[in-house]
Amino acid sequence: MKSDAAENAGLDPSRLPVHAAVIMDGNGRWAQKRMLNRIKGHERGADTVRAVVRASREIGIAYLTLYAFSTENWQRPKSEVKALMTLLKRFLASEREEMIQNNIRLQVLGQTHRLPEDVVQGLAEVTEQTRNNDGLCLCLALSYGGRTEIVHAAQNLARQVRDGRMDPEDITEALFSQNLYTAGIPDPELLIRTSGEYRISNFLLWQIAYSEIFVTPTLWPDFTREEFIGILRDFQKRERRFGQVSEQ
Ligand code: IPE
Ligand code: IPE
Ligand code: MG
Repeated sequence: MKSDAAENAGLDPSRLPVHAAVIMDGNGRWAQKRMLNRIKGHERGADTVRAVVRASREIGIAYLTLYAFSTENWQRPKSEVKALMTLLKRFLASEREEMIQNNIRLQVLGQTHRLPEDVVQGLAEVTEQTRNNDGLCLCLALSYGGRTEIVHAAQNLARQVRDGRMDPEDITEALFSQNLYTAGIPDPELLIRTSGEYRISNFLLWQIAYSEIFVTPTLWPDFTREEFIGILRDFQKRERRFGQVSEQ
């Protein structure tokens, strides 16, 4: 069924990204263009999340990481942060059943301890209820910052060296990766950013070393399953050289 959906979409199932990551940007501008409150943009953005999660599952992508809230986003007006947290709770409540039914595993990346207690609780529940699912892994980057993640990994490793459990020379790229929030998750081959901004905004700094980057001018609430599939098709046309030459 999975490869059928991919093939029907004109995709080669054997050349899909295992991991796709998305910087979901442009909710505020979507709302402002319509003279609406920014929060309306976030609400519509949640509908796009549903559509992209569903498409990823059907097509057979193994990991989908969505940048939902950055460490920098804590500096937004209190009312917007509060509304985003309420939306997140609502999203968890409404999607829980579908995630269980559809074999989706939820994983959270970020400084979860900074999130409100009830959100932490909701995330922990759904994570636990879906932990044995082996379909799509939906990774939500929440209160996430790439630099913080790297510093956190360095601290873990430094502690182990200090305690005499390993030597500095034992620290390899693989071991470093295992100390990131994304431990056990392959690096994303594909990174999408909506709303036309050509920047990374502190997202997955370590993991995107060799990701193919696609920036679309579409604002996140206007992003569709069709556009997502179009990007996957373009991804399949790109040649990933990893520093080598074509013939290799
Ligand atoms: C992305 O949309 C959602 C979050 C960062 C939470 P924005 O809220 O950043 O929308 P713009 O960039 O202001 O349009
Ligand atoms: C990046 O978007 C963070 C998320 C999508 C959650 P921002 O809107 O916060 O990033 P900047 O401010 O444009 O860099
Ligand atoms: Mg933005």
